[in-house]
Amino acid sequence: MIDQRLLPARLEVAAFADYRQVARAIREMVVRGAPAIGAAAAFGMALAARQSAAQEVDALRADLQEAASRLVQARPTAVNLSWAVQRILRLAADYQGSADGLRQAVLAAAQRIADEDVAINKRMAAHGAALIEDGDTIIHHCNTGALATVDWGTALGVIRTAHEQGKRIHVLVDETRPRLQGARLTAWELSQYGIPYDIISDNAAGYFLRTGQVQKVFFGADRVAANGDVANKIGTYMLALAAHDNGVPAYAVVPTSTVDLSLASGEEIPIEERDPAEVLNLQRDGAPIAPAGASARNPAFDVTPARLVTAIVTENGVVYPPYLPNLKKVVSNE
Ligand code: MRU
Repeated sequence: MIDQRLLPARLEVAAFADYRQVARAIREMVVRGAPAIGAAAAFGMALAARQSAAQEVDALRADLQEAASRLVQARPTAVNLSWAVQRILRLAADYQGSADGLRQAVLAAAQRIADEDVAINKRMAAHGAALIEDGDTIIHHCNTGALATVDWGTALGVIRTAHEQGKRIHVLVDETRPRLQGARLTAWELSQYGIPYDIISDNAAGYFLRTGQVQKVFFGADRVAANGDVANKIGTYMLALAAHDNGVPAYAVVPTSTVDLSLASGEEIPIEERDPAEVLNLQRDGAPIAPAGASARNPAFDVTPARLVTAIVTENGVVYPPYLPNLKKVVSNE
């Protein structure tokens, strides 16, 4: 996997042979972004199968179960992580054959999850790009591009496809405190694609919306509840509020694997709280920004209520309110 902690300064690939290293890499954000950590966890399961000394299928299933528990604990909010791991566990439960056959089947399933992700992103991008008009200025939050997925991206994939269609667009890139996924990763990706952009501090978004300089807001999601509430990177809620107040449409772009119909509302989505050091260790002129001994809170995600989300773009089409029946339809692809 690309070590995303080092970008944009260095592009380095980290290789792992142990599923426990994969779990640590997900927790420490070597790899990040909901679909990317789902695919990484699936390959973690394939490594666990390879590492297991089990001769019998039942013993291999038990080892896979143990690996699954460790992998899903790595990060709690993005449902794609448990979605991918559960998909592999279901395959293992139904499998009939030898232990080595199951090892091969798990690896093939991980590769399928990765390949499907790219195809799904391209389909989402085609649906979402139809919402973008020539000349639009778009605010984008966090990083939702090729780095956050297996390839192409969710919200950034939409922007990329619109750009390839020849639409002239300008992106205002929220820097996305405290891990700065926007300034570090989204800006790096946009530079590679030749898409014009400016980085803005997160708290400038309201200014640009209020002064009529923005036509659309696009973001991804880590989990969408059955009622359309969207959990995404911290700051998305404030952005969606400001967009709503100014009549600017705000779109979430999500594969259906990010929709969790088992949760009635966003209240039930677990929100990861990360190390305060991520907030306190930001440096200015080589010194930490906060006084020694300062404390901080660091929720990594927030929930944007469905009423602030204009539409949810999925691989099976664009979903408008009422979300409860319409998300159900799009997830089962009726
Ligand atoms: O903490 P991160 O960087 O993993 O959070 C990522 C996001 O919030 C993305 O916007 C989200 O995963 C959806 S897009 C792939």
